[in-house]
Amino acid sequence: MTKSNEEKLPEKIPTHVAIIMDGNGRWARARGLPRLAGHRAGVENLRRVIEACVEFGIQYLTIYAFSTENWDRPRAEVRGLINILEDVIDRELKELHENGVQLRHIGDLEPLRPKLQEKVRHAIELTRDNRKLVLTVAWNYGGRAEIVHAIQKMLADGISEGEIDEELVGRYLFTAESPDPDLVIRTSGELRVSNFLIWQSAYSEWYITPTFWPDFGREELLQALCDYSQRERRFGRVPGAISQS
Ligand code: FPP
Repeated sequence: MTKSNEEKLPEKIPTHVAIIMDGNGRWARARGLPRLAGHRAGVENLRRVIEACVEFGIQYLTIYAFSTENWDRPRAEVRGLINILEDVIDRELKELHENGVQLRHIGDLEPLRPKLQEKVRHAIELTRDNRKLVLTVAWNYGGRAEIVHAIQKMLADGISEGEIDEELVGRYLFTAESPDPDLVIRTSGELRVSNFLIWQSAYSEWYITPTFWPDFGREELLQALCDYSQRERRFGRVPGAISQS
């Protein structure tokens, strides 16, 4: 769709959008294609969505690319998803860097072969000073595993019971350097959290759409932002009690 002259951005743009990119498999099946073709179409859409995030002034985008549960998929699909991660770095890193995108990773890279771990770390290091958009890739990520990891680290650091509060727990999560997501988007209509940012999304707004991820482009992101802009975030308080930008 072309950009209309009358198109207006909503007044309230979320600082941080997180996305569960679901429905690649069903998108492929509907076309008689293998599941990996759906994931590759998902990557193409990710490109469009990253560009749109920059255009709309979103500062943080976090994407759920591979969960701790995804290892249970058929081996060929797991291998394909690992190859996609490598391909994205090999083919897109230069352009992402030139466009001011800072890359971060949450999750555990350990099961990946050392050369690929190195590529991920290089991408993070190369882009660390970029400020246009912080793109966090959740890869081999699970919210519960993240909390377990945080508790283990607190114990290893000798943190005492009295020191533990919500702020400290937040600092021990992989996401310590990012604000909590304002808006979580889930494509393909599933009504589940699926172990994604379970601590951080405590007060996030949700936008759930039946659209499969490869078809969720700029226009529907804009729709999600308009929807978000109409919400009154209460953080558990009464209407009108919160003043926010
Ligand atoms: C869920 O769809 C999607 C995934 C598990 C993978 C998402 C990954 C990408 C879009 C590639 C981006 C990757 C990187 C490294 C940036 P599904 O397979 O569960 O779909 P289904 O529910 O229809 O089967």
